[in-house]
Amino acid sequence: MASGTGIWTQELLKIGNKITALDASQAVIEINRHKLNSPNVKYSQVDLFAWEPEAEYDLVFFSFWLSHVPPELLDLFLNKVYKSVSARGKLFMIDSRFEPTSTAKNHILENEKSIYQNRKLNDGQEYKIVKVFYQPDTLRSHLNKAGFQADIKITDNYFIYATATK
Ligand SMILES: C[S@@+](CC[C@H](N)C(=O)[O-])C[C@H]1O[C@@H](n2cnc3c(N)ncnc32)[C@H](O)[C@@H]1O
Repeated sequence: MASGTGIWTQELLKIGNKITALDASQAVIEINRHKLNSPNVKYSQVDLFAWEPEAEYDLVFFSFWLSHVPPELLDLFLNKVYKSVSARGKLFMIDSRFEPTSTAKNHILENEKSIYQNRKLNDGQEYKIVKVFYQPDTLRSHLNKAGFQADIKITDNYFIYATATK
């Protein structure tokens, strides 16, 4: 979900026979498609906030996506994710932890509690975006609420990741 330009889709291709890659942006879908050039990946341009699961999957994966989901849409989204995971399937997700040193010229992290950031594109356009930094307990409780059993881990600095089952 929110497959982006394929950094992780290409890793999933090593373990999956058939992948469905969903993203709202046709432009990033085309980059992903061109990069992977695989008949085993089916792409679909989908707004994940309007998406309804139509199938059950052995693995549902998203990276650096949940942090962009507005808090008021989170539980509804996770309920739908739950429906899209097969009975013996898994959800795996990875996202950013708040890390004040992970700054770049167009990406300044000021405050762990703020759910908004300004992002400046190379062409100068600036956007206010949603970026929520989850603590393990909060993430676990949202995953539990959706029906998942979740194992959450953090790395020393940058990442939080979760494996969840039904
Ligand atoms: C931060 S990128 C992460 C991309 C990829 N998962 C990765 O880790 O490289 C977020 C992705 O979410 C996609 N996206 C944004 N809003 C979306 C929406 N409403 N529905 C589906 N995808 C969306 C963007 O097009 C972008 O590819």
